[in-house]
Amino acid sequence: MAKTEGNQTWDAQHYDDRIGFVSRLGKGLIELLKPAQGERIIDLGCGTGDLAQEIGSLGATCVGLDYSADMIEAARRKYPGLSFRVANAEEFRLEQDEKPYDAVFSNAALHWMLRPEAVITSVRHALRPGGRFVAEFGGSGNVRRIVEALTTQLEGAGVDWKARYPWYFPTVGEYAPLLEKHGFEVRYAELYDRPTPLGDGEDGMRNWLQAFAGPLLEGLDPERKEHIVARCVRTLASELFRDGEWSADYRRIRVAAFKR
Ligand code: BEZ
Repeated sequence: MAKTEGNQTWDAQHYDDRIGFVSRLGKGLIELLKPAQGERIIDLGCGTGDLAQEIGSLGATCVGLDYSADMIEAARRKYPGLSFRVANAEEFRLEQDEKPYDAVFSNAALHWMLRPEAVITSVRHALRPGGRFVAEFGGSGNVRRIVEALTTQLEGAGVDWKARYPWYFPTVGEYAPLLEKHGFEVRYAELYDRPTPLGDGEDGMRNWLQAFAGPLLEGLDPERKEHIVARCVRTLASELFRDGEWSADYRRIRVAAFKR
């Protein structure tokens, strides 16, 4: 286990066993990246390395970066032929003799980083002129029903959830200007609904909350936590549980921007 942005704790085994959909659904983003033979590409927030491996299988050299040492350790075990590094996306810089990259790719990671301009600055430093940044993450309105259920329960329990809110879900109108401000030309940007089946039958929402809502529930005694989770699951069932399966109300922002 290790900590990442926003005090979220990541468990690589849980990530692979229970929320493998994160990587599976990220494959569409590789079509937008279009990795070419011989290109050098960073996968920022690579988790346990599945998409870095996929990018590498298309002929590029992909280096995976993640803030969680646990994820990087698991990625190295799964894909010993690839290169993985622990790095904080808000601060990382290339090593002294490291050549700038052709592309930075990121799937389902940037919404955990609350300093988007610091991330964009890191990405810019890592790219050659003309290099591209292709990313998808939670956009404005992402998991709105889940957030409402959680924050309502937390408020009822007297927890100051605003102080521990861990996510950044921007609109296209908020994010594209940040890219432009930091020297990128935005050639593609989209916000779209992507309802996401959670798997695990009736445990799906409980598992999702366990995997992802850590920062909002951290420090609460187990009984209080269980009470909040149980009430969230009950409240959300009428909207997000159908025919024995949970679906989360994901909305994604997807961008492709080129370094000027
Ligand atoms: C997401 O992938 O959109 C997401 C995952 C965990 C928490 C919030 C959002």
